Amino acid sequence: MRIGERNLLATLGRDVHARRDHVEAAGMKKVYYGMSGSDANETQIKIVWYYNNVKGRPQKKKIISRQRGYHGSGIVTGRLTGLPGFHQCFDLPVERVGHTVCPHWYRQAPAGMSEEQFVAYCVDELEKLIAREGADTIAAFIGEPVMGTGGILPPPKGYWAAIQPVLKKHDILLICDEVVCGFGRLGSKMGAQHYGIEPDLITVAKGLTSAYAPLLGVIVSERVWDVIDQASQELGAMGHGWTYSGHPICAAAALANLEILERESITRNAAETGAYLQQQLHTAFDAHPLVGEVRGEGMLAALEFMADKDGRVPFDAALKVGPRVSAAALQRGLIARAMPNGDILGFAPPLIASRADVDEIVQLAKAAVDDVAEQVLAQKASAAT
Ligand SMILES: Cc1ncc(COP(=O)(O)O)c(C=O)c1O
Repeated sequence: MRIGERNLLATLGRDVHARRDHVEAAGMKKVYYGMSGSDANETQIKIVWYYNNVKGRPQKKKIISRQRGYHGSGIVTGRLTGLPGFHQCFDLPVERVGHTVCPHWYRQAPAGMSEEQFVAYCVDELEKLIAREGADTIAAFIGEPVMGTGGILPPPKGYWAAIQPVLKKHDILLICDEVVCGFGRLGSKMGAQHYGIEPDLITVAKGLTSAYAPLLGVIVSERVWDVIDQASQELGAMGHGWTYSGHPICAAAALANLEILERESITRNAAETGAYLQQQLHTAFDAHPLVGEVRGEGMLAALEFMADKDGRVPFDAALKVGPRVSAAALQRGLIARAMPNGDILGFAPPLIASRADVDEIVQLAKAAVDDVAEQVLAQKASAAT
């Protein structure tokens, strides 16, 4: 197959390209379609490897991901995912993947470090990893604008502006994984736009159809595309594709979804109501004894529960504080997810949510957290006697 020329483009590609304001990054013109975020990122890695092979740089193949990043659970994508539970007992390939520091200031910054200093620390850690491995062996860096599954972690201020020059300097491609952030979730059309990220490759999925049908897009910049296109003149079609890539039913769902997003100004609602959600969560939980951090961006938010919020001491994992709050919320009719690697409650309300919906979400969440806080305090008191 030649990327950009598969059957789907006849039905979906041109129409989606006509909605280019969803993919504003300059030169992002070629799209390959598939079924899931995992197969999208597997495709991205194959494109990056192919790109470097045809450029005559067969040694430039390693991919840098971040601890707590989530990029799927395929063979390589499972390895890119920076959560130990996704590696355990799977024998995933390790040689071509390196993880750099997770940019979460509250939990990852060494004691006493300001947010600004932490950004410099993240840059320094990245530089050290590149120096250790050798820039000529590193092909790409993959990252979510806001980390989702890893705990809903917005980057510290200035993070993306500081990271990108390092990648450019070492000729490392940037893959922006927009599976969660794309199509309005952060209150911007794309996460890249929200943070001024200029990727070489973009992965989109969930929001493309609002998850009503399975569809992903691998969006390829001209810079990468030109190299692949040139090579395919000599090598012939690139041998890659899945049977259900760009299934017309999913394509139709995507077109209908994109039309509704635009017609009903849903991204604008996500920005406005999302700002209200963040504000209300801060009001309800900043001073709560169980809550160490309230964080989020747009319609993505999280509460992280800590045994000692000022000392940043987590609860014993065996207490399962996060899952217990999630269960208490569900009992009250609120779906809020217990996230991995910490006691974290994640919120991803529908982008059409209203201020009244937010009030209800926050009120139900408060009742659930209070409930578990009471149990935890009682447990503590009985352990002390
Ligand atoms: C950022 C990100 N990338 C990739 C994936 C993998 O997508 P899928 O579950 O469709 O394979 C996910 C799934 O949640 C995701 O959040």
